[in-house]
Amino acid sequence: SGGSVDSASLETVYVQQWLERKVTQALCEAFGEEVKDVNPMVAIASKPEFGDYQCNVAMSLSKKVGMKPRDVADKLLQRLHPLLQDVFEQPEIAGPGFLNLRLRKDYIGGRISRMTEDGERLGIPKTGNPKRVIVDFSSPNIAKEMHVGHLRSTIIGDTLCRLEEFLGHDVLRLNHVGDWGTQFGMLITYLREKGFTAEKGLGDLQIGDLVNFYKQAKARFDEDEAFQTASRKEVVALQAGDATSLSGWSILCEASRKEFQVVYDMLNVRLEERGESFYNNMLSDVISGLKEIELLKESEGARVVYVDGYKNKDGDPMPFLVQKSDGGYLYSTTDLAAIRHRVQKEKADRILYVTDAGQSTHFDQARCIARQAGWVPSHVSLEHVPFGLVQGEDGKKFKTRSGDTVKLRDLLDEAIVRASKDLRERLEADNKETERTARIVGLAAVKYADLSMNRESNYRFSYDKMLALSGNTAPYMLYAFARINGIRRKIGSEIKLDSSCKIILDHPAEMFLARHLVYLPELLLDVEKSLYPHRLCEYIFELSQRFNQFYENCPVANAPSEEEKKSRLALCSATANTLQLVLNLLGIDTVERL
Ligand code: ARG
Repeated sequence: SGGSVDSASLETVYVQQWLERKVTQALCEAFGEEVKDVNPMVAIASKPEFGDYQCNVAMSLSKKVGMKPRDVADKLLQRLHPLLQDVFEQPEIAGPGFLNLRLRKDYIGGRISRMTEDGERLGIPKTGNPKRVIVDFSSPNIAKEMHVGHLRSTIIGDTLCRLEEFLGHDVLRLNHVGDWGTQFGMLITYLREKGFTAEKGLGDLQIGDLVNFYKQAKARFDEDEAFQTASRKEVVALQAGDATSLSGWSILCEASRKEFQVVYDMLNVRLEERGESFYNNMLSDVISGLKEIELLKESEGARVVYVDGYKNKDGDPMPFLVQKSDGGYLYSTTDLAAIRHRVQKEKADRILYVTDAGQSTHFDQARCIARQAGWVPSHVSLEHVPFGLVQGEDGKKFKTRSGDTVKLRDLLDEAIVRASKDLRERLEADNKETERTARIVGLAAVKYADLSMNRESNYRFSYDKMLALSGNTAPYMLYAFARINGIRRKIGSEIKLDSSCKIILDHPAEMFLARHLVYLPELLLDVEKSLYPHRLCEYIFELSQRFNQFYENCPVANAPSEEEKKSRLALCSATANTLQLVLNLLGIDTVERL
C-alpha cells in the first residue's frame, strides 16, 4: 500500500514504546490482568538476522504462569499478532522462546512518505502529556569571565531545551547567573573608591572591561585591611537593601549582562535570566524550614545539613553548608530555595542542571535534602547533567598563548575567521554570501564539536579538527545536507511528491537507509531520557553514510522506472528533512551551498 497514512501510524511512530504497550495488552489477554505490570522485555534486536526488535518476556514469565517459555511465547503470539499486523510481519519464535519482530516494508514506506510531506515534524506528533521542564543552564557569574565551561553548558543546555520543546513539553530556560555572591562587597567598595556615588552614578568611570575591573578590585582587597572591612560591610548593606549599594550592584550586573548577550546572540541561544539574587528573600525560609524538621545542625558556629552516605576525604560525614557563622547564606542555600520555588511556584515536573561534573556532589546533596524536607513530590525529577572539561590541544588547561583565559567572543570569532579562510580558498569566492556561510559554519563547528562528544568525557578543543571536511564534524554534515538537498531540488523540480507516492524498498541499500530514517522518533525519546546529545550526532553521521551507500547503488535521476524515481526522490527528501531537523535540534543552521 505505502502512502496513505492513517491515525494508527501516528501513534506507532515511537515504535518500541508502542510495541511495549501492545505486548502488555496481549499478555493481559492471554494470561489475565495479574500480568499487567510485568516488564514486556522489548528491545532492539541484538542482530539484524533477528529482525528489528525482540521480545524476551516468555522466559521471564514462564515461572510465574507455570508454563514452558516456548508455550508462553506461543500463547502470547496468538494474541499479539493481530494487534501488530499493520506494523510488523508475523513474529517468529526462536530458541527457547524469543519473539523476533520485523517491521513491514509497507509500514516503513508509509512512514517515509509522511516524512517527505511533513518536512517540519516528519510525522512526529507532540506528546499528549506535556510536562513542565526547567533547564538551568549557561549560568555564568557576574563580573567574572564567562569561560569554556559556560560555553559547554550553554550549547548542551540549548539542545536539551530544543529537544524538549520539539517533543511538545513546556520548557523554561533559566539562566541562574551568579549575581549575589560576597564578591559584590569588594566590587562595590572598589566602585565607590573610584568615585561612584548614588547621585552621579559611574560618572566618567569606565567598567567596560569588567574582568579587568574585577582583578583590580581583588588586588585592592588583598593588599588593604581597611578595604576588606569596608567590603564586608558593603555585603551586609547590599543584602539589607541599601539603595546606593543596590544601584552599584545593578550597574555591574547590567555591564556583565551586555557582554553575555553578545555570546548568546552569536550562538542564537535564548535564556531567561533569573539569577541567585532572585531567591534572596526566600533564603531565611529555607533555614527555618530545615530547622523545623530537625535537619539543621550546628557545626563550628555554622549551620549545616548532613546527608547519609556523603563522606569527606577523612571519612567524616560531609556537611552541606547552608549558613555561615556570620549569618551569610551560600550558593547551596540558594539552590535549595530555587528547588522549592521551581517545584511550588513554577510547577516543574523535571528540572535539569547543566554544569561541569565537579558540581555533581553539590546537586546530589541538594536533591536529597529537598526530598527529605518534603519539598519535592515523587513525580518530580531533579537531574544533574554533568559534563567534562574542555582542554587545550595539548590536553592541558584551555588557555590563550599568553596564558590568559580565552574570551568566548574571541573563540567564536576565531572559528568564523578560520571557516571563512577555508571557504574562500576552496570556493575561490569572496562575497557577502561567503561571509554569511562562514559564520554559520564556524559557529556550527564549535557547537558540533562539543555536542558530538560524550558530554561526560573531557575533550580537546581543536579548530583544525572541528573544521575538518571529513569525519563526524559540522562541515561534513552541512556539506552532506547541502548535497542531498541539492539533489532533491534538482530532480524534484520536475516531480511532485505527495502522500500517494508509493515507496519501493527492494534494494537492500534503500531498506538500510529507510530503516534508519524511521528510527528517529525513538532516538529522540532515548536522548530525552539519557540526555546525551552526542547520540543525535552519531545518528546523522550514520544517516549520511547510509545515504551515500544508497546513492551509489540506486540511481535517482536515472532510475529504471518513473515509479522508482519518485520513490528514491522521496528517500532523498526524507533524508534531507531529517538532517535539517536534527541539525536544528543541535542549534545549527543549514546552508544551501558549501
Ligand atoms: N554559576 C555557576 C557556575 O558558574 C553555575 C550555576 C548552576 N546552576 C545552579 N542552580 N547552581 O559554576
